[in-house]
Amino acid sequence: MVGYTSWALLTKMDIPLIGVNGLRGEYHLELPQLRIGSLKLRYPIVQGGMAVRASTASLAGAVAKAGGVGLIGATAMALEELKQEIEQARSLAAGGIIGINIMYTATQFAEMVDVAIRAGIDVIFTGAGFSRDIFRWGKESGVPIVSIVASAKAARLAEKFGAAAVVAEGAEAGGHLGTDRSVKEIVPEIKATVKIPIIAAGGIVSGQDIADVIKLGASGVQMATRFVLSEECSVADQFKQMYLQAKAEDVVIIRSPVGLPGRGIRNDFVKSIEQNKVPKPSECAGCLKKCSKEYCIVKALINARDGLVNEGIVFAGQNVFKIKDILPVQEIFDRLLAEYAVAE
Ligand SMILES: Cc1cc2nc3c(=O)[nH]c(=O)nc-3n(C[C@H](O)[C@H](O)[C@H](O)COP(=O)(O)O)c2cc1C
Repeated sequence: MVGYTSWALLTKMDIPLIGVNGLRGEYHLELPQLRIGSLKLRYPIVQGGMAVRASTASLAGAVAKAGGVGLIGATAMALEELKQEIEQARSLAAGGIIGINIMYTATQFAEMVDVAIRAGIDVIFTGAGFSRDIFRWGKESGVPIVSIVASAKAARLAEKFGAAAVVAEGAEAGGHLGTDRSVKEIVPEIKATVKIPIIAAGGIVSGQDIADVIKLGASGVQMATRFVLSEECSVADQFKQMYLQAKAEDVVIIRSPVGLPGRGIRNDFVKSIEQNKVPKPSECAGCLKKCSKEYCIVKALINARDGLVNEGIVFAGQNVFKIKDILPVQEIFDRLLAEYAVAE
């Protein structure tokens, strides 16, 4: 079938016939072939970029090796650190696709993009605002740019500027949010508006979830929360344990000084934000173009990432409570593909 990978072939190559996780049955669904510019993905699965230092080389490299796109969360990294992370991810990726995720609000946005392009990055995902410049830099260097959007209007703008694809991120997502609407509402609207490929994001944790958004018009998915619960993700074990213990009602909207709401797990730190009791930062590195300085979001994310979970913010997607195990990235892929193949 033109434009589609043969599922029969994938089954033989990559998935045990008696399925992963006890799944059995006839493999019948085919995955779409996702292209981002000239990049051809083996599987249309992107591991969402996660700042600060939640998605680093070890995770991005493993995802790329497994056949998806591995993204390093670049926001708030030092320039030299970013360069080293890209080199390390490349060495782990076995020829797979490595990208960065960078928020437009980062003060060093232009410098970071420059470092990534010089380091030979394959693709750049960018969100939290638009920069026309990045599309020009992408064109000049041949690096495809993917815009993270939450509405048909923003998707149309991204396509006009030259985006190779858009991530349609719904309110189920972890991290900062651009909408309070479900990914299942925004994907069909964006599909009706743009011709470039749509990568759906927010709350996708299983093969059935992937099938659901593909039916709505997506050509691929971006997943982050599922990949936090991988062996290769470099967040502290305490961070992963918060994920494993979270119940549905623990996942809440958090006020962030960036000016966008964020989704994460309610803990002592979040309670003090709700009660306006977080002390203002005593120092500021000026890492974001726009910040209310109500508290330091970068410090809060680093604290949590390093294991001080109650002194920081544990961003997580709405469906975190559905994930019950920490697995190697390759097993996450095997399971997603097996679940997808028998999805309704
Ligand atoms: C811990 C964490 C950190 C995140 N950091 C970023 C980020 O720096 N930039 C960004 O564009 N999205 C960020 N996100 C959003 C993810 O890239 C992804 O789009 C979203 O979480 C998808 O929803 P899911 O987690 O339910 O799969 C973050 C998400 C999490 C869970």
